[in-house]
Amino acid sequence: LDEKIWLGLSFGMIMIFMLITGYQGFALEMGPPSHKETIDPQKVDQTAPFDQPGIKQIGENEYEVVMTLQIFSFNPANIEVPAGSTVHFTMTSKDVVHGFQVANTNLNAMVMPGHITKITQKFDKPGKYLVLCNEYCGAGHQVMSTTITVK
Ligand code: CUA
Repeated sequence: LDEKIWLGLSFGMIMIFMLITGYQGFALEMGPPSHKETIDPQKVDQTAPFDQPGIKQIGENEYEVVMTLQIFSFNPANIEVPAGSTVHFTMTSKDVVHGFQVANTNLNAMVMPGHITKITQKFDKPGKYLVLCNEYCGAGHQVMSTTITVK
């Protein structure tokens, strides 16, 4: 009888491990959307939402920014939001790997062709925030910048 209990216990343990492994695999597979979503870099202009880059108010203090990056610019550039806004950025690159780093915030993302990068940031403090490309993307890399104005 003792033996049967141990056998049963070890079988149970194996089942639990398998379930955990299976669940982890499933969870990883689902992943955060930013790592899963892909786009044809040749067809960015024809693919929603990137066919209409821009800023859109989606809630009382909430904005969505659909942005395309290409050498050596951000589109839209020089966006403005009221202080206290939460901004959801949805970005892709039309050519090479670019960076999206916003000074004085924790915003720092890589924007790759073929991939959709999604990040959210709340802007509480009014001011002009410098946006820089921090991935070397060619001869004009140093001048690839824009601003986010929080009013
Ligand atoms: Cu774009 Cu460096």
